[in-house]
Amino acid sequence: MSHANTLTREDLEALWLPFTSNRQFKASPRLLARASGMHYWTPDGRQILDAVAGLWCVNAGHGRREITQAVAGQLETLDYAPPFQMGHPPAFVLANELVRIAPAGLDHVFFTNSGSESVDTALKIALAYHRARGAGTRTRLIGRERAYHGVGFGGISVGGIPTNRRTWSASLVPGVDHLPHTHDLERNAFSRGAPAYGAERADELERLVALHDASNIAAVIVEPIAGSTGVLVPPRGYLQRLREICTRHGILLIFDEVITGFGRTGAPFAAQEFGVQPDMITLAKGLTNGCVPMGAVLVSKAVYEAFMQGPEGIELFHGYTYSAHPSACAAGLASLDIYRREGLLTRAKSLAPQWEEAAHGLRELPHVLDIRNYGLILGLELAGESGRPGARGFEVYRRCFERGVLVRQSGDIIALSPPLIIEPAQIEQIFETLRAVLRER
Ligand SMILES: Cc1ncc(COP(=O)(O)O)c(C=O)c1O
Repeated sequence: MSHANTLTREDLEALWLPFTSNRQFKASPRLLARASGMHYWTPDGRQILDAVAGLWCVNAGHGRREITQAVAGQLETLDYAPPFQMGHPPAFVLANELVRIAPAGLDHVFFTNSGSESVDTALKIALAYHRARGAGTRTRLIGRERAYHGVGFGGISVGGIPTNRRTWSASLVPGVDHLPHTHDLERNAFSRGAPAYGAERADELERLVALHDASNIAAVIVEPIAGSTGVLVPPRGYLQRLREICTRHGILLIFDEVITGFGRTGAPFAAQEFGVQPDMITLAKGLTNGCVPMGAVLVSKAVYEAFMQGPEGIELFHGYTYSAHPSACAAGLASLDIYRREGLLTRAKSLAPQWEEAAHGLRELPHVLDIRNYGLILGLELAGESGRPGARGFEVYRRCFERGVLVRQSGDIIALSPPLIIEPAQIEQIFETLRAVLRER
């Protein structure tokens, strides 16, 4: 094995990279060797501005010593503790800290290790909740087209990504319906913030209720802002409408805030930003600033209490060996501490006007079909090359990396979500780079 900085083609072979074109990558690898603040460095020393917070997770920037030290100290004190029928103090402290910043009423926390696990956990809690209160016929789950809820069987079932549904079609969770997505280029292209049109798409839920009867429906899950399929900001009033319909019919509403959580929209959670109260929120990513894998489900008092009514015993037959792992709890506590001290849970609000202005300045460039933004999030939709979907998006991604900026590509859509510590000059650098790359083509 060669030294990490001089990997040969052969050294690259054993690793099967996730969500990656392995053959393309191994022919022309992009490697990162270290990171600090807003930047990565490649093994040959090139500085790369991180415009996606790693993968929507490094909200406080890279290499935060407070987190590293907290994790190291925790591992030296208590490296592992079984989470079943046992506890350790940092798990309880972190749960309380999360509840402090969560929307009022979401006052219980179940820990997982990823966004995918959080989604599957929330779906299982929803089903078990109805059963616990004697409504066991409520088994149907409702997701949405173009939703990404991770890679578990539950997540890909309620998710709305055609490739998943094609590849694993025979093994998806039964009894799932999908609401229509809210993407509407015709009416909403180049909206600034929440688009004006499309709240009525929530009414499709009424149609599903009429079809199946509410007594058969357990939960609706949506991302407040869909991220992975290209940044789809909810139309004004849409989430409120979903909430009203769910409440009217006793259906639980789950917000998947794996990417919108921890300050991305300008509030701690999108639920607060949009003023809509879900019954559960799924979390991961920013929870530990990306340092240690961890996820969580925030659960309402009513849902939690429903489980506490029956005879004593294990109330929820579910959990992970690494639920509330001590190192993850330490990373979570240190991250929340930084977020609070540095005002990062609301900082996106003050940067959003500059972000929006700079983003929409790309409007007249070649191939630009739409620009959509919210908080410190951007979706830049490009016209695809004929017969080669995703090729233009990939080329823009690759050229930005060559010019020293890491962006994210989803088909022909470029998504941005920088660390929340970003400075105005770095916002300029990101958009100047995109401008130069788009002009080249
Ligand atoms: C909304 C949403 N849910 C779930 C996930 C899955 O998270 P993980 O990759 O940690 O399993 C993601 C990942 O990007 C996400 O964006």
